[in-house]
Order: sequence, then C-alpha cells, then structure tokens
Amino acid sequence: MSAISVPPPKCLQKPLVVPHRHMFGPGPSNVPPRILEAGANPVIGHMHPEIFEIMSDIKSGIQYMFQTQNKVTLAVSGTGHTAMECAIFNTVEPGDSVLAAVNGIWGERAADMAERIGARVNTIVAPPGGCLTIEDIEKALSKHRPVLLFLAHGESSTGVLHPLDGIGKLCHKYNCLFLVDCVASIGGAPVYMDQQGPDVFGFSRCSVWD
Ligand SMILES: Cc1ncc(COP(=O)(O)O)c(C=O)c1O
Repeated sequence: MSAISVPPPKCLQKPLVVPHRHMFGPGPSNVPPRILEAGANPVIGHMHPEIFEIMSDIKSGIQYMFQTQNKVTLAVSGTGHTAMECAIFNTVEPGDSVLAAVNGIWGERAADMAERIGARVNTIVAPPGGCLTIEDIEKALSKHRPVLLFLAHGESSTGVLHPLDGIGKLCHKYNCLFLVDCVASIGGAPVYMDQQGPDVFGFSRCSVWD
C-alpha cells in the first residue's frame, strides 16, 4: 500500500508575502490597484453571456489602444512570447520567406521562431543602437519577397523606438504582411495601426497596457 512520503511543505502553510517594489523596466511592471482588484472578481465560465460582453469591451479597448477598426482584434491570454508565436505561427507556412528586421534581440527571437517552423528566414541588421532606413527595408523586401516582415517597434534590448511610418505601405506594395512588436512601446508611444499601413498588425502584452 502506498503512503504519503513527501509531507506538505511548511512554507506553503503560512500566508504569501510579496513586497512592494518599483519597477521601471519594460517588464515586469507595477500593476495599478484597479487592475489588481479586477483580478479578484469571481470566475465565470467561457460560455456565460457576461463573458462575451467583457471580451467585447476588452476588444474595444485594444482597438482604441492600437488605433484600429479591424474586427479581428483579440486578446491572447499569455505573455509577449505567446503573442509572437501566435502571430508568426498563424501567418507563416514551412518554406515561406520571412524577413526579420534585427535591431536588437527581439528581431533575432522572431527569426528563430520562424526558422523553427521551417520558414526561409532572412534578416536585415541595423547598426547597434540604430534603426533601419526605408531604403534598407525596400531593398530587402524586393530581394527576398517575404510573406511577413517582423519589426520591433520598441526594441527593449537597445532602448530604440523604431519609426513605423511608410513601412506598412511598402509591405503592401510587396504583398507582405507587417508584424510589429509593440510589447515595450504600446501606451508609451503612439501606434496608428490603420493609418500606418493596410497590412499592419501588432501585438503587445497586457502588463504594459494600462
Ligand atoms: C520588445 C519585446 N518583445 C517581446 C517581449 C516578450 O514578452 P514576454 O516577456 O511577456 O514574453 C519582450 C519582453 O521584455 C519585449 O521587450
């Protein structure tokens, strides 16, 4: 007969104490009390009518934040990496050409993800702490003819905010989707998704949304 040989841990028998800390990096970040209180709401099921209203309100908030009227605007419950994978895995097929603008680690990370699903990945690399020009991007688009261009808007590893104007239009000209990583920039710098190009789509994570 089996018996419990690992006793319940003593550390879990006392209340959890998490200290207050001021965090000023791109993440994790401090969460306002209004958001913490929302987390204490009762759990309801994913088919309860109220959840549809809540999800629809969240959608309106995201549309406002990204300045888009795109109906396919949704909250993915997960980290920035989850959203990156979700965006790349749903737009790229094995063998597709993908272009990653690399101006820090996030372009490299996107290139790795696309490589893992068997895409043909090319990169355009900006000088350390710098940005790419529209000319650099057009040259690479015309050479590699990608289905997707990835660019980190707020490149948290270098602190560079990459301009977005004109790139969406360029991608449209080359029949390429434009994926913008706004994890570290949204809420701090404006993003005008509908105006910045017809095929722009971006992602962020909720911890920086407030
Ligand atoms: C620009 C950028 N993209 C993506 C991520 C990944 O987000 P997460 O840590 O929530 O997976 C980060 C995280 O710092 C980031 O700064």
